[in-house]
Amino acid sequence: MPKCVLAFSGGLDTLVAISWLKERRNFDVIALAVDLGQGEDLEELGEIALRAGAVAARVEDLRESFYKDFIGPTLKALAHYEHGYLLSSALSRPLIARELVRVASEEGATHVAHGCSAKGNDQIRFEAAISALAPYLKIVAPLREWEYRNREQRIEYARAKKLPMPKSRVTGMNFGYDLNLWGQSIEIGMLEDTSRPPPEECYSLSVSPLYAPNQPEEIDIEFREGHPVGLNGRRMNPVPLIEKLNQMSGAHGIGRTDIIEDRLIGFKSREVYEAPAATTLYAAKRALEQMTLSRDSLQVREGLAVAYGRCVYNGQWYSDLREALDMFYERVNKNVTGTVSVRLYKGVATVFARQSEYSLYTVGAAAQREQIDNEAAE
Ligand code: ARG
Repeated sequence: MPKCVLAFSGGLDTLVAISWLKERRNFDVIALAVDLGQGEDLEELGEIALRAGAVAARVEDLRESFYKDFIGPTLKALAHYEHGYLLSSALSRPLIARELVRVASEEGATHVAHGCSAKGNDQIRFEAAISALAPYLKIVAPLREWEYRNREQRIEYARAKKLPMPKSRVTGMNFGYDLNLWGQSIEIGMLEDTSRPPPEECYSLSVSPLYAPNQPEEIDIEFREGHPVGLNGRRMNPVPLIEKLNQMSGAHGIGRTDIIEDRLIGFKSREVYEAPAATTLYAAKRALEQMTLSRDSLQVREGLAVAYGRCVYNGQWYSDLREALDMFYERVNKNVTGTVSVRLYKGVATVFARQSEYSLYTVGAAAQREQIDNEAAE
C-alpha cells in the first residue's frame, strides 16, 4: 500500500483523517506529531494515532529549530501582519511542511497530508512549502474532499469508528485553537459577530488586563545581534526564555489582539490572538533598535517588516524574497546588542530603560543643539 505522512495535531479533524486516509484511500498512514511548544503530551498523541489506525507515529520536539529557523529571523525583522498578528500560526506551517517532507523521504512515502480546510490560509502555506521543497510529493487534503461537512458529523464518525480522543479535547467549548511557543490563534463561531467581544474563557495564555496584578513587574531582557539571550541577568536559551516570558507577560495581560484580518484567499475574518512573550520582545527590541540603528536604517527596516510579514503570512517562506530579506535583517541586527528594561503592567509592556555598547545616542547632544538654536535666535 502507498504510504502517506499526515501532519497530526491530535484534534478531531486529523484524528478522523487517519482513519479516512486508511479506509477510503488505502494508505499506510504515518502520523507526524510535532512539539512546537504547545504544551501537549506528545507521547500520548503518538499512541492515539496508532490506536486510530496509523501504521507508525513519529513524535518530534522541534522547539529549537522553530526558534532558530523561523521565530528568530521573524523577530529580527520585527515582522507583523496588519499590526495585530505576530504570525505564530503562519510561522509554524513551513516548519511542519519541512518535517513532512523529511519524514516522507525517510519512510519512502509518495504522499503527504494535512488537516486544513478549504477556507483558511494554512492549506496554502502547507502546499506552497511542500511544493517548493519536494514538488514530486502528492498532497492530500482530506478536509477538502470528505463528505463530513460539520464538526457534529466528524464526531459521529469518530464515535462510530471508536476512535480514541485525547482527554483534554473532549471537554471544553467549541473553540478552534492553534497554539505554539510564539502564541495562540483563537477561532470561535461567535467571533463572527464583530459587534461582540471575545468571551474571557477563550483565552488561556493571558489574564484579562482588567484583573492583572496592581503591582507592576520590571524585567531586564538582554539581546545579542537581535536575539534575546538573557532574562533578569541570567543567560538563557531562546526557547526557555520565551516560555518564561510567556508566563510573566501573560500574568500581566500582555499580548492580546482582536483584529479583522485580510485572509489570503480574499475575504476578511475576525481573528483573536494571544502572544505575550512575542509582544514584550517586540517592544523591547524595537527600543534597542531605535538606539543602535541609524535613522535611515530604521526607516527602511520598518517598511521591509511589512514585506516580511506578508511573505510569512502568504506562505512564501521558501522564497528568494524571504532569503533576501533575511540577509538585510542579518546585517541590520549586527549592533542590536544590549539590555532593555521593561515594565509589565495591566496589558502593556513599557520600555523604561536601555543600554548598549553600540548606542548612537550622544549624551548632551540634544541639549547642546538647543543652546545653539537659542544663540542663533538671539
Ligand atoms: N488567521 C491566522 C493565520 O492565518 C490563524 C490561523 C490559525 N490556524 C488554525 N488552523 N486554527 O495565520
